Amino acid sequence: QTETSWFYTDAAAARALLQPRTRFSHKGNFGRALLIAGSYGKIGAAVLSAHACLRAGAGLTSALIPQCGYKIMQTALPEVMVMTAGSNKKIVSDFPPLGAYDAIGVGPGLGKDFKTAKALGGLIEKMISPMVIDADAINLTAENQAWLAKLPRQSIFTPHPKEFERLVGPVANDYERLARAKEFAQRYQCVIVLKGAYTAVVLWNGEVHFNTTGNPGMAKGGSGDALTGILTALLAQEYDSATAAKLGVYLHGAAGDLAAQHNGMIAMTATDLIEQLGHAFE
Ligand code: APR
Ligand code: MG
Repeated sequence: QTETSWFYTDAAAARALLQPRTRFSHKGNFGRALLIAGSYGKIGAAVLSAHACLRAGAGLTSALIPQCGYKIMQTALPEVMVMTAGSNKKIVSDFPPLGAYDAIGVGPGLGKDFKTAKALGGLIEKMISPMVIDADAINLTAENQAWLAKLPRQSIFTPHPKEFERLVGPVANDYERLARAKEFAQRYQCVIVLKGAYTAVVLWNGEVHFNTTGNPGMAKGGSGDALTGILTALLAQEYDSATAAKLGVYLHGAAGDLAAQHNGMIAMTATDLIEQLGHAFE
C-alpha cells in the first residue's frame, strides 16, 4: 500500500465530522447505548465506559453487568439503567433480548470465563448492527476466530498492541502492524483502532487515519474503557462506524489533553478525561 491512503484527523477534520444538535431534538434522537462489561474487581471498567458513553451524548445509556456491580453502578451513575446477567462475579448466562439497543459496546473488564465466551458468541451470532469490541471481548474473539465471519459488518475493534497481536499473531514492527490491520479490516469488513501514542484508525476500504490528539497522561488503566464508551455513544447517535471511530478517537485524545492541562499528565485519571469530554466536544 502507498501513502496515498494515509490521512490525519486534526481539529478541522474532526469538526467536519461532528453533527450539530437541533433545537427540537429529544433523547430518542440520540439512541440507546448498551455497555456489556465488568467482572468482580473490575466493575470500575464498566462504570468508566458507561460514564464516557453518557458524556459522549448517548440518549439513553444502559449497562449489562454481573450482579456484584449492581449497587456500585447505580450509585456511581444514576443516569445509567442497569441489568444484571449471570453469576455474582461474572457475566456467564445468555444475554437477555438486546434488540432494543441502537449500539452495543462489549469488553471492558469482562474477564474470559468460558461461559462468558459462550454468551458473547451467542450475542455475535444474533447481532446485525455494528458493535464496539474491546479488551477481553477482543481476547475472546482471538480465541474463537470462527466468530469473525459472523460479526456484524463494520464493527469496531479497539486493541492495544498486545490485544492486536492476540488477534492476528506476532508482528515485528509498526509498519507490519499497520499492514496486518489493513488486511484484517478488509477481510472482515471492520474497523481496527490501533491504540497507542498516535492511534491509527484503519478502515475496511484500506484508509488509515492517524489521530493527532492525546498524551502520555492517558497511559493509565481506564483510558481505554473510556474510549469504548465514547465509540458506543457515537454509534448510538447514528454516526457510521468510520466516522464514529475517527471522531471518537479524536475527542478521546482531546479530552485527555484538557485533563492534562488541568491535572497534569502524571496525576490525571480516566475520570478526569471523561469529565473533560464536554469541553472537547465544544
Ligand atoms: N499518547 C496518547 N495516547 C495514549 C498514550 C500516549 N502515550 N498511552 C496510552 N494512550 C491511550 C491509547 O491510545 C488508548 O486509547 O490510552 C488508551 C489506553 O487504552 P488501553 O491500552 O486499552 O488501556 P486500559 O484499557 O485503559 O487499561 C489497561 O488493558 O492490557 C489491558 O487487560 C488490560 O484491561 C486492562 C487494560
Ligand atoms: Mg483496554
